Amino acid sequence: MSRITVLRLGHRIKRDKRVTMHAALVARAYGANEIIITGDRDDDLIRRIESVTEKWGGSFSARFEDNWRGVIRRFKEAGAVVIHLTMYGMNLPDVIDEVRRIWREGRSLLVIIGSEKVPREAYDLADYNIAVGNQPHSEIAALATFLDWLHEGKEFKKEFSNARLKIIPSPKGKRVVAAGGDGSLK
Ligand SMILES: C[S@@+](CC[C@H](N)C(=O)[O-])C[C@H]1O[C@@H](n2cnc3c(N)ncnc32)[C@H](O)[C@@H]1O
Repeated sequence: MSRITVLRLGHRIKRDKRVTMHAALVARAYGANEIIITGDRDDDLIRRIESVTEKWGGSFSARFEDNWRGVIRRFKEAGAVVIHLTMYGMNLPDVIDEVRRIWREGRSLLVIIGSEKVPREAYDLADYNIAVGNQPHSEIAALATFLDWLHEGKEFKKEFSNARLKIIPSPKGKRVVAAGGDGSLK
């Protein structure tokens, strides 16, 4: 089955605590299967991501790896398509049809997001360097937009199995209920 993995490059424990956490939350909520984090090893961050999955369901996972080049190489060897989100790339509207076609044909995707400066080599290793508009903004915004365009909004209908908590959409206020193991309401 084709999967979506997000590769977060160059996590810095002090500066990126919230940004990397938010990238992981977006990856999970917008239909990716896992996030791999490189840079500073941050076990507390991995635990916090896992605890979101335990509470809100689904099978999203997070792990740390030392060698980002090795991750890209392994994914390429396994047949995945490597997409690097960067403001210098081809603009999303011009390439999304091709990426969607490849994804629907059953290829897995490795979606790379950077932090400060992404090494030149990442641009060369990527099959696609894609810009979410050719202006600088944020890896969280770029990831959310890319995944939303890929799924054309269908990610928001996704059910997360084994959730302990579930939100009942409400026009006002907060309705959160305990959920059964299958995601049904208790
Ligand atoms: C602080 S930005 C650094 C901007 C960087 N010079 C670049 O290549 O996009 C950190 C990350 O946000 C993402 N990013 C920022 N703006 C983007 C854009 N317009 N399109 C796609 N990704 C973007 C990239 O993944 C980048 O590595």
